[in-house]
Amino acid sequence: MALLLLLLLTAAQLLQLCTGQGPPEPPGRIAVVGAGIGGSATAYFLQQKFGPQVQIDVYEADRVGGRLATLTVNSQQYESGSPSIHSLNLHMQDFVKMLGLKHRREVAGKSAIFNGEHMVLEETDWYLLNLFRLWWHYGISFLRLQMWVEEVMEKFMRIYKYQVHEYAFSSMEELLRSLGGDHFVNMTQRSVAESLQVIGVTQRFIDDVIGAVMKASYGQSVAIPALVGAMSLAGAQGNTWAVEGGNKLVCSGLLKVTKANVIHAKVTAVTLHSTETRPQYEVQHEREGAPGSDYYDLVIVAAPLHRDGHPISFLNFQPPVKEPTGSYHRLVSSIVHGYLNSSYFGFPDPRLFPFSNILSTDSPDSIFHSLESLYPVNVSVGFRRKPPQEAAVWRVLSPRPLDRRELKTLFRSYYSVQVVEWQAFPSYDSTGSSHSLPPILLHDGLYYLSGVEWTASSVEMSVVAAKNVALLAFNRWFELNEKIDQPDLLHKLKTEL
Ligand SMILES: Cc1cc2nc3c(=O)[nH]c(=O)nc-3n(C[C@H](O)[C@H](O)[C@H](O)COP(=O)(O)OP(=O)(O)OC[C@H]3O[C@@H](n4cnc5c(N)ncnc54)[C@H](O)[C@@H]3O)c2cc1C
Ligand SMILES: *[C@@H]1O[C@H](CO)[C@@H](O)[C@H](O)[C@H]1NC(C)=O
Ligand SMILES: *[C@@H]1O[C@H](CO)[C@@H](O)[C@H](O)[C@H]1NC(C)=O
Ligand SMILES: *[C@@H]1O[C@H](CO)[C@@H](O)[C@H](O)[C@H]1NC(C)=O
Repeated sequence: MALLLLLLLTAAQLLQLCTGQGPPEPPGRIAVVGAGIGGSATAYFLQQKFGPQVQIDVYEADRVGGRLATLTVNSQQYESGSPSIHSLNLHMQDFVKMLGLKHRREVAGKSAIFNGEHMVLEETDWYLLNLFRLWWHYGISFLRLQMWVEEVMEKFMRIYKYQVHEYAFSSMEELLRSLGGDHFVNMTQRSVAESLQVIGVTQRFIDDVIGAVMKASYGQSVAIPALVGAMSLAGAQGNTWAVEGGNKLVCSGLLKVTKANVIHAKVTAVTLHSTETRPQYEVQHEREGAPGSDYYDLVIVAAPLHRDGHPISFLNFQPPVKEPTGSYHRLVSSIVHGYLNSSYFGFPDPRLFPFSNILSTDSPDSIFHSLESLYPVNVSVGFRRKPPQEAAVWRVLSPRPLDRRELKTLFRSYYSVQVVEWQAFPSYDSTGSSHSLPPILLHDGLYYLSGVEWTASSVEMSVVAAKNVALLAFNRWFELNEKIDQPDLLHKLKTEL
């Protein structure tokens, strides 16, 4: 009988009986700063963990979606921020399914790499012929590169398994170490060029191909760290997709299912108030010049602190919250509706110009990083890509705004140009080799998500970091220490399953 009684008690009640105190109450209120994909996903995962009774306020200074954004040309919408998502991005795939969204229809297109005078590499119709061309040009380098990228991605994919089992990491270093050991941590320090040289990829291949991909992905050189480099190379191998209606629909969708309280205000400061039990964080904000403030048990900052724009002060913290070092890289996105000047690329007859995506080698006088023919966020069944002699919508990525002369060089003529300036990614190559990654844990209940971008900046990385922050906050709140920074997780999960 006594045994039965014992069995009827839940573990929590048992704990209460034995220690005289219950498990901690769940937090009452949580603030998330930023409603990009990182903040929206954080709100969603926090609610999944803590349950619907916790109030989640999401502060957004500008637009829900952040760097997932669209603009309108000729009454059609086009992606002006991040256009594509890799197919291995499992969290994003889940979100799209869960929210009832769809993948946009694919429209085939070909890529080429331009060196300022002519195309150094052209994609052809036939896959085998492509391989042959790469082989012809670059020999074994190409295979070595492929194997290297595959290995990195395979290790990276372990994170999904860890997260299914609710393991969290208190720093990016710990997370990376559990995926690929010290070697992975080191890959955030050494350059992609160096790493590829070590495995025997030729300098010519690095200059022509890797340089072009790094420029098109991050607007930076082969000096960027190997891990972020490998991830962008994985993205460059095709297999990317986009959300029908615009990638930003994932953000608004997540906030809606979470029933998060979206507050359109700019957060200016977070002030620590210590109480006898748990610290309270006062979030000060400003909406159209009108100040306000609210108190929270947990605060998650899902906006880059490195970016100028909407700085946040951290007040009353002892020791103070450190100012992050490093800066963000400017990238200008010009959405041009017009006729491409195919002569400039060595094709005097525009009808013979077959490319929809042009990358640029890392030469100092190239005026653009990449040039891509865009199609709208909604692609109807009858849609076809415009033949090159017709006007189309192009996205030019460049380090600075294009002047009229440059536009006239790239386009025979155009109807419209819309320019969006982004503080797009961390300036990876400006940091030197000895920087450490930004912390996730700023204070007991204060977390920082966007530091993940210094490991690699992408939509999926923000979501992986969002899930990690939500799990970390939950595991720390309920003192589930065996779910934090576990060594040898790969082995553990193999034997447990
Ligand atoms: C031109 C371009 C191309 C890209 N291409 C790709 C790609 O092909 N594939 C890919 O995976 N990634 C790509 N990216 C990167 C990707 O867009 C980002 O990594 C991702 O969207 C970051 O999401 P986030 O939520 O972490 O940050 P953000 O989207 O920047 O969200 C942060 C939000 O916080 C808000 N905010 C900031 N400060 C405050 C404050 N003080 N108070 C309140 N709100 C604040 C901002 O307004 C913003 O909405 C690209 C980015 C750009 C700019
Ligand atoms: C990582 O870098 C450190 C310091 O540079 C070095 O001592 C260590 O051997 C490296 N480890 C691996 C696995 O590459
Ligand atoms: C575009 O696609 C989205 C998502 O499927 C849909 O909700 C929207 O109505 C579509 N818009 C147009 C103009 O077709
Ligand atoms: C197009 O490119 C050619 C070759 O670079 C250049 O001579 C010409 O001025 C460019 N502009 C137009 C409008 O043709």
